[in-house]
Amino acid sequence: MTSREAPAATGATTATSADMTLGSADLDRLGALHVQCIDDSLPALLGAGFAARLYAFLLGSESEHILCERVEGRIESAVVVSESPGDLQARIAKGTFPHLVFASLVALFTRASFWSFLVGALRDAAGGDEEPDHAPEITYVFTNPQLQGKKLGKRLIERVDSLMRERGIARYFVKTLDDPSNRAIGFYEREGFERIGVREEAGRSFIEFHKSLDQR
Ligand SMILES: CC(C)(COP(=O)(O)OP(=O)(O)OC[C@H]1O[C@@H](n2cnc3c(N)ncnc32)[C@H](O)[C@@H]1OP(=O)(O)O)[C@@H](O)C(=O)NCCC(=O)NCCS
Repeated sequence: MTSREAPAATGATTATSADMTLGSADLDRLGALHVQCIDDSLPALLGAGFAARLYAFLLGSESEHILCERVEGRIESAVVVSESPGDLQARIAKGTFPHLVFASLVALFTRASFWSFLVGALRDAAGGDEEPDHAPEITYVFTNPQLQGKKLGKRLIERVDSLMRERGIARYFVKTLDDPSNRAIGFYEREGFERIGVREEAGRSFIEFHKSLDQR
């Protein structure tokens, strides 16, 4: 778990607080920002309340790292890296159980897109021939839409690189929706990730990337 913030990189817009742990207001902020930025993800379908619980779980996990960029003290960009993505969904389900059940019941009755997500997930589970997950993996990365393109994401990737190097990890992975309108594809390519394949998940196609790190 990496909850302590690294000192700020110099930048016109960023005033990252050094050595701040994430408090409950930060977890609410992360949940709300996640829902706003990645609206087709499961936490977004389950709502901001569930997403805040999810970030509380991730903060307490030994296998996940949360890094945030703040602007004037407020979290505006964040990344979650998992060193054990293969069992992350199961651990989230166990770690958030009552909240997950409640949010799923609400979503079943209020969000049509939750049904198609469920059908895709059940189809994957029935398929049984899953490809192995790559680790470590960026699970989520997002920037407040009003501040996208201002290099907060770049700074986060640089910090992930440093964290991985500190932990002696030579490469890490990310996957993103294989859709020409997905601007994250260009972002990863620009940040030094290389395509390694395509995989199907929950009825959708994702491009898999890896980034090799030289050990300085
Ligand atoms: C992808 C994302 C995390 C990048 O964060 P960021 O803070 O905008 O990143 P940076 O400013 O360092 O880099 C921006 C680059 O990313 C790309 N980009 C992706 N989405 C962008 C957006 N909405 N606005 C501007 N640039 C975007 C561009 O290639 C841009 O490069 P450029 O500035 O040279 O044109 C952010 O745009 C985002 O939150 N997108 C929505 C959520 C998402 O897709 N997450 C990834 C899911 S796998």
